[in-house]
Amino acid sequence: MYRLSIPDPSLVLLIGPSGAGKSTFASRHFRPTEIISSDRCRALIVDDESDQSVSGEAFSILRHIARERLRRSRLTVIDATSLQYRSRRPLLRMARSVRVPTVAIVFNLGRDTYFANNLARLDRQIPAAAIEKQLAEFETAHARLAREGYANIYELDATTLNEAVIELTPHHDLLLSTA
Ligand code: CTP
Ligand code: MG
Repeated sequence: MYRLSIPDPSLVLLIGPSGAGKSTFASRHFRPTEIISSDRCRALIVDDESDQSVSGEAFSILRHIARERLRRSRLTVIDATSLQYRSRRPLLRMARSVRVPTVAIVFNLGRDTYFANNLARLDRQIPAAAIEKQLAEFETAHARLAREGYANIYELDATTLNEAVIELTPHHDLLLSTA
């Protein structure tokens, strides 16, 4: 068993390339309403999860929902690749501004898994070149996550992915409890 202790509330970032299994993991471990998916936000706008032309609008909706949830101390899981710091930064700042901790769950499955999962998937396939680019971004992200201020960083590999158990732990706002 690989225990992931997650403060409740918190902002949970699932970080990993396409095909890593983020959405599969999210639906296995969290309630549907706790998960905000960038692909789902794209689909809500143009009925197509893979339409990159509405990425800006999709992330704007994603952040809007995240903000409204976090303000109300609701556990919030971001299902997006979150490989670039510029996509993580507004979320990190948002959580910090409402004093909710952020947890990173890193999907480090290795390139063969990303490509194999991508080939096998029925919903949508990502071009190989896009996955290559994400692999480079993943290396950059991996090297700097420890400096971004997460309450916890959990890393999943092929073994721990299937042994993961989420343990929600109440998070008491220090400021409120000392006020
Ligand atoms: N998959 C699998 N075993 C897992 C996790 C995922 O075989 N433990 C397969 C799924 O069946 C799916 C594919 O891998 O067809 C991609 O998984 P998904 O969870 O959709 O990956 P994401 O990381 O969410 O990919 P994306 O960023 O493109 O949404
Ligand atoms: Mg997904």
